[in-house]
Parts: sequence; C-alpha cells; structure tokens
Amino acid sequence: MPSAPIIRPARADELDALLRIHRLAFGEEEEAILVRRLLVDSTAQPCVSLVALVEGELAGHVLFTRAALVGEDETRIALLAPLAVAPPAQKQGIGGALTQAGIAVLRAQGVELVFVLGHPSYYPRHGFVPAGELGFEAPYPIPAKDAGAWMVQALWTGLIGKVRGRVVPAKALRRPEYWRE
Ligand SMILES: CC(C)(COP(=O)(O)OP(=O)(O)OC[C@H]1O[C@@H](n2cnc3c(N)ncnc32)[C@H](O)[C@@H]1OP(=O)(O)O)[C@@H](O)C(=O)NCCC(=O)NCCS
Repeated sequence: MPSAPIIRPARADELDALLRIHRLAFGEEEEAILVRRLLVDSTAQPCVSLVALVEGELAGHVLFTRAALVGEDETRIALLAPLAVAPPAQKQGIGGALTQAGIAVLRAQGVELVFVLGHPSYYPRHGFVPAGELGFEAPYPIPAKDAGAWMVQALWTGLIGKVRGRVVPAKALRRPEYWRE
C-alpha cells in the first residue's frame, strides 16, 4: 500500500512538474495553461498552491485563488481551480487530502467562503454544498442542468444567509469557457 501523501506548498522550481500533472489528469493543455496564468496573475493573489508527494514523487496539485463577491467587499473568498491527481495515483485519497489541506490554509488566512465549479458527487465529500440556492451566482451563468456543480463551503459560521451575490474571479479566470461543466 502506498504511503500517505505529503502535502506542502508548491515551490517555484516545481512549475513544469506540476503542470505535467494537470496535462496527465485532464488529458489536455487547458488547465496547465490556466495554472501558469493564475500563478502570475496579481488579481489571484494571495493564492494557495499545494502539491502532494508520494514516495518523493509529485502526484497531485491544487490551486486556490482570490476572488471577490460583488457588493460584499468585506467578505474574503477564494476559488478552488484546478485540482489534479496523476492518473496512477488517483483513488488513494490524494485529491481529498489536497482539498482539505488547502481549506485549512485558507481558514488560517481568514478566508470565509470557498467556491468550486466541479463534480457534484466529489466535492460534497469535502464539505461543499450547492451555491446557487444559497444566493451565490457564478461568474458566468451555469446551465440549469449543471447547477449542482457550482458549490460553496463556508469556513466560518454565520455567513450563509447573510451574504450573497455574484462571484468575480481572478482575471485569468474571466473567460466563459472556464465556467462550463
Ligand atoms: C477528481 C480527482 C482530482 C480526484 O482525485 P483522487 O485523488 O482520485 O480522489 P480521492 O482519492 O480523494 O477520492 C476518490 C473518490 O472520488 C471519486 N471520484 C473521482 N473522480 C470523480 C469524479 N469526476 N466525479 C465523482 N467522483 C469522483 C472516486 O470514484 C473515488 O470514489 P470512492 O472513494 O467511492 O472509490 C482526480 O480523479 C483527477 O485528477 N481527475 C482528473 C481531473 C479532474 O477532473 N479534476 C477535478 C476538476 S473539478
């Protein structure tokens, strides 16, 4: 059985290796390009970029970037995108460990809400719930059939029901093609 992953902040010299994980996991270039852009996007900072290592090898990466809630300037929010685990290392808890570790870092930084557009049967395992019905609009309209893919997690109690509005992501994520499930 493989040993538990080590999760830690990504280092600058690991960029090529972590982009490779995204290419392998998604089977295309789009997410790797997005990660490269987000890491140098000033509107995405501070971001939380974590890698998972299994037996010394890079096996996964997650990126959380800053975002804003229209009309709620005081509320600190972040977006999870993208998350990738190398195919041979999938289904060993690495994606979950990266998600949980990132959320712990965000909570310590005072971030209050984390959003994700992703698999509606995966992220609820890690505390996410549908965001649309709670009054949070995605940056671009999500088709009704995919409404469950737009999710939120409150890191502090008392916020849900009190704040609502449209999420504005970092500049690199302001493209409608990133908001289709
Ligand atoms: C999605 C992903 C990050 C999950 O990482 P992982 O390390 O394999 O996930 P975990 O080990 O934490 O969890 C595995 C569980 O999640 C489930 N799961 C994996 N991908 C899923 C998906 N797309 N939708 C729903 N459930 C999924 C697995 O079936 C498994 O379920 P089980 O515990 O009942 O067997 C990984 O499969 C991946 O990189 N996929 C390609 C890229 C991608 O889709 N990224 C997410 C974008 S929203």
